Amino acid sequence: MQIEFVSPNTALSPRSAVAVLVFEGGALGSAAQKLDTATSGAIGRAISASRFTGAKGQTLDLIAPAGTEAARVILIGAGPAASFTAKIAESVGASAYQAIKLSGVETLTLMLADQTEAIAAQAAFGVRLAAYRFDRYRTTEKAEKKPSVTKVQVVVANPDQTTDAFDPLSTLADAVYFSRDLISEPANILYPEEFARRVKRLEALGLEVEILGEKEMAALGMGSLLGVGQGSRRESQMAVIQWKGAPESSEKPLAFVGKGVCFDTGGISIKPADGMEDMKWDMGGAAAVAGLMHALAGRKAKVNVVGILGLVENMPDGNAQRPGDVVTSMSGQTIEVINTDAEGRLVLADALWYCQKRFEPKFMVDLATLTGAIIISLGHDYAGLFSNNDALSDNLLAASKASGENLWRLPLPASYEKQIDSMIADVKNTGGRPAGSITAALFLQRFVNGLPWAHLDIAATAWKKPSADPTIPEGATGFGVQLLDRFVADHYEA
Ligand code: BES
Ligand code: MN
Ligand code: ZN
Repeated sequence: MQIEFVSPNTALSPRSAVAVLVFEGGALGSAAQKLDTATSGAIGRAISASRFTGAKGQTLDLIAPAGTEAARVILIGAGPAASFTAKIAESVGASAYQAIKLSGVETLTLMLADQTEAIAAQAAFGVRLAAYRFDRYRTTEKAEKKPSVTKVQVVVANPDQTTDAFDPLSTLADAVYFSRDLISEPANILYPEEFARRVKRLEALGLEVEILGEKEMAALGMGSLLGVGQGSRRESQMAVIQWKGAPESSEKPLAFVGKGVCFDTGGISIKPADGMEDMKWDMGGAAAVAGLMHALAGRKAKVNVVGILGLVENMPDGNAQRPGDVVTSMSGQTIEVINTDAEGRLVLADALWYCQKRFEPKFMVDLATLTGAIIISLGHDYAGLFSNNDALSDNLLAASKASGENLWRLPLPASYEKQIDSMIADVKNTGGRPAGSITAALFLQRFVNGLPWAHLDIAATAWKKPSADPTIPEGATGFGVQLLDRFVADHYEA
């Protein structure tokens, strides 16, 4: 996808669709007005003949109207003119792309000459998010089923300044793509070592990446993480990614920890067959952290950040761990494994402990597709936020608002701790059906050693099927990358 910013006197590319803004109530943006005049009122007539009102997300497609060279004119609803923001522009750019991606036109021309550079850049970012597609394994798809748009021209008053405003957003889109690709890959291709190799390649961006194998993790005493991978033919891995963007700083680093279960069969507590294929994206937390590190390095963020990924595969096998087994975590705490399908918390227990021990970070934020219960609690449009620290939690909620990746905070009541008390060990890995996402978070809290910490349960938001958001094509969302990039930029950068 080629995106360029051009000035208003640029000639239209052949086979292009021209997208113009229409505000709620039918108020035409200035480009729409000009086209309406050129087409002898075709736009006004089309609006009167339809139910198009200019509400955000609506589109109306006029094919080859007389009076313009455009192959199509797309009216895009931008909502009320008074509340038009960069965030809405992002969604509008995405809707325009979605409306014509399969139409046969090759160029999408977004008419935004009367908008600010920031708004035009954000609209182009929306197009990039919308244009993501994972088609690596399609070999027989017919040409007419593939998106036809290969080029996007954004008509703006100041192309150079808008290009400068777009550059960091384009870098962020690259990071979201990286995260979405990891999530989309099937588990026969993306197993722990392959995930680690792809992360290792990020060294080209200036990140430092260390990979720990099973031997190193055993030496560190990570019996909890290793127990999960024990039934797999694939070796478990831990990726330690460092971005040292503020080498002079004496501040402690920020730390992000991701659950990277490359496939979750449930283990001996095996899951039902129906829908099990979805468990290839049980590494969405690790993919979000990897995407964040990509984003920070991409824009040379002036901050020191550590990303830790616990990468395993949860399989049933003669060597797999059994329900009832007791494992010893790196923290020294023993864990009774009641259900081998509650494996994410076992992986994070050691990843969190290792993270705080080695780096003594300012705080830790973990991301994990941790519980089915969070889908029941919050549905697919919110991730659950759990934290032992109000200031950290507030900063995450603020970044959530700014990025549009929704979080909702849930409590960590001490009175529920007894649900995870074990008869024979320090803790057990399941707390029964009541408040399943909360008891999972309470389990994690036992491994943060009192550090400021937040846990994001992204089981419902890592993947959308179907998706109602034009910036998210069906499939991997990359949830967390934009949120955390914003969180770091707005609250912790010099
Ligand atoms: N990876 C799953 C959680 C999940 C479920 C993510 C559905 C996305 C969609 C996790 O490892 C799991 O299996 N959790 C169990 C915990 C239970 C055994 C206590 C669950 O939620 O059922
Ligand atoms: Mn599981
Ligand atoms: Zn899982």
